[in-house]
Amino acid sequence: MNTNVKQAMTAEEVMEARHSVRKYQPGTAIPRQELNEILRLAATAPSSWNLQHWRFLVVTDAAKKERLLSIAYGQRQVVDSSATIIVLGDLEADKSARPVYDHALEKGYVNEQVRDTMIQQIEGAYRGNPQIARDEAILNGSLAAMQLMLAAKAKGYDTCPMGGFDRDALIRELNIPKRYIPVMMITVGKAAAPAYPTMRFPLEQLVIENSFE
Ligand SMILES: Cc1cc2nc3c(=O)[nH]c(=O)nc-3n(C[C@H](O)[C@H](O)[C@H](O)COP(=O)(O)O)c2cc1C
Repeated sequence: MNTNVKQAMTAEEVMEARHSVRKYQPGTAIPRQELNEILRLAATAPSSWNLQHWRFLVVTDAAKKERLLSIAYGQRQVVDSSATIIVLGDLEADKSARPVYDHALEKGYVNEQVRDTMIQQIEGAYRGNPQIARDEAILNGSLAAMQLMLAAKAKGYDTCPMGGFDRDALIRELNIPKRYIPVMMITVGKAAAPAYPTMRFPLEQLVIENSFE
């Protein structure tokens, strides 16, 4: 019997096993192909109108990661992890409406009338409404971020989502164009120490049946 064969984790096992790891084995690279597969899986997330608001700014360069240390208020995981990924949200996702719905038309998923209606709807929602653009970028970017963490865990890597960084300094350091808003940093790597345990509220505290009183 081959005892080296590793069983894939179920979706439930991945969700239960994912925790925020803050200590990584320094100098451990993720093979690019594996990282790309994690990013591809992250991008299977759903999104409003299928506009796919997420972009992944992948920082693996040691010197660049070192520059992120002060931006992330000294959180060491940005340096020791194999990659620090900045999930960006597209503030101009309405620009993706045409390519997405032209593709759908070409494939026969929608007819011309539906394509035109969808594009009009999207352009109408975004026009002169920066709050919608920002909400949508963060909302949809976060869905991809979650999937990224689960995909990484399924492939034997740990992650930590991070909101603790200086956004303006990050934008300056990595020349992030105005079109994109940093949603979250995610460190990815091989754990050097387990995550510390965290509690979850019981369902009785979380679930409201049908409506509030
Ligand atoms: C949006 C967001 C921002 C976070 N920011 C940080 C951070 O800056 N530094 C950090 O160490 N953990 C950060 N965390 C991780 C949380 O502390 C962690 O998810 C929570 O305590 C639950 O623990 P678990 O992820 O291990 O289950 C963040 C999590 C989220 C979702």
